[in-house]
Amino acid sequence: MTASRPTPPTADPDWWRSAVVYQIYVRSFADANGDGVGDLEGIRQRLPYLRDLGIDALWLTPFYTSPMVDGGYDVADYRDVDPIFGTLADFDAMVTDAHALGLRIIVDLVPNHTSDRHPWFQAALAAAPGSAERARYLFADGRGERGELPPNDWESIFGGPAWTRVADGQWYLHLFDPSQPDLNWRHPEVRAEFEDILRFWLDRGVDGFRIDVAHGMIKAEGLPDVGFSTMTTGRRQVELLGKGRLPYFDQDEVHDIYRAWRPILDSYPGGRMAVAEAWAETPQRLARYIGPDELHQAFSFDFLDATWSAESFRKVIDTALAEATIVGAPTTWVLSNHDKQRHVTRYGDGPDGLRRARAAALLMFALPGCAYVYQGEELGLPEVLDLPDDVRQDPAFRRTGESRDGCRVPIPWSGDAPPYGFGPAGCAESWLPAPATWAALSVAAQTGVPGSTLELYRRALRIRRAHPALAADAGEVTWQETEPGVLAFSRAAGDVTLTCVVNISGAPVRVGGYGEPLVSSETLTAQDGDRWLPVDTAAWFERR
Ligand code: NOJ
Repeated sequence: MTASRPTPPTADPDWWRSAVVYQIYVRSFADANGDGVGDLEGIRQRLPYLRDLGIDALWLTPFYTSPMVDGGYDVADYRDVDPIFGTLADFDAMVTDAHALGLRIIVDLVPNHTSDRHPWFQAALAAAPGSAERARYLFADGRGERGELPPNDWESIFGGPAWTRVADGQWYLHLFDPSQPDLNWRHPEVRAEFEDILRFWLDRGVDGFRIDVAHGMIKAEGLPDVGFSTMTTGRRQVELLGKGRLPYFDQDEVHDIYRAWRPILDSYPGGRMAVAEAWAETPQRLARYIGPDELHQAFSFDFLDATWSAESFRKVIDTALAEATIVGAPTTWVLSNHDKQRHVTRYGDGPDGLRRARAAALLMFALPGCAYVYQGEELGLPEVLDLPDDVRQDPAFRRTGESRDGCRVPIPWSGDAPPYGFGPAGCAESWLPAPATWAALSVAAQTGVPGSTLELYRRALRIRRAHPALAADAGEVTWQETEPGVLAFSRAAGDVTLTCVVNISGAPVRVGGYGEPLVSSETLTAQDGDRWLPVDTAAWFERR
């Protein structure tokens, strides 16, 4: 089958080492059929936009058959496309076109849990305790005299106990929503099934996988208690992207799974890769997911929690670079994703937040490794903070009051009013409403406009692609001495040096000594015969 399928854009098996990967939250990217929900055909139609942006690959969040309780991270059929997103034929057409434009496709694999609508879980519910059907999940008897208490004290990441009781009295484990039962990864059928699912998508031409909850599949033997509960201590036992050491995360045996997957990926041509969404306690433990016999990358999420300060950014960068040295693989950078508040808002919202987010983009793109861009960050979209409660769909909202919907609002493409060209003319309202204030943020409003965030991203990515000092084989990051609150680092290739300077100091700083400016997130100023970098601004300088 592989031979007849579209081949990847270049033969370089190491393409992922320095790639810019654009994350598409499929429901919210582009709606081709006008039902208010994004779809695969919408993505296909917008591929030229993505090529012009200058990215290398797309990562698509789950588009498989799903009841959509957790936005598709609850999969009922791993080998088909949900009708709201299209068909397998639409997927194939999108892959063919993406490859023709030189773009690679990474799909999301959700192995920790299925949907409760998955045929395996339906069969498990219909079968008796102790049956072969139940053995593929984590069913257990309860504690207490009549088994009325959950088997242990584990809590769901979305709030409340991680166990739900079924009619015959047994309990099943779900680290996320009750509609997302955890699979039993000590069961050989589960392992065989996912190896087959990997091959299914590799045969369809995908270039890689993002592994959801990659640290979660193996639970400690005997399912021991954590020892404290959120209810009694007020301290959250577990949080999305948290770093706690827990009996249900980051168990050593999980690595056996990846050691079995790697030869499968390597058996396909063109450099098929996998990136782990793993939450680990330390950089050392995170690094264990990466290597020639396991996965290619693990997301380094520390930027998502970094505050707007030189100190905090410096720490994140040094930690991630040290992590990369441990495994000899380049790191990854993530400023925003579909689970966290958008960085424009994290950095202060409004004009300050946007200005800082633009500077952060130049910082990220100058660093070695692979940069992940979350859809809409190239437009400077803020978090939508005032969504009415009744439109929010995040399953965590009802239990924790926290909701990830504000970063999932559909992309504004054009026009003066919601849904801003998200769907064809006259189409339904988008599944989450876009704010009335987004006209100036649309793709059409920013295209070709000097100084717009979109043109800043395009320019930075064009330079990144061509500049020898930003190439995968360019020199290491060398920090420069600066005044407090300023970050400056250089990378070199032969006699060309590129220096990235970020001014978080609260006052303009002289930058005349770094060479010729290539790009800056705001206009540089001239004073006293020198060049100055304004506050909350980043710039790249070249010296030959
Ligand atoms: C991590 C995903 O990024 C998130 O969106 C999802 O809710 C959980 N995993 C559960 O699959």
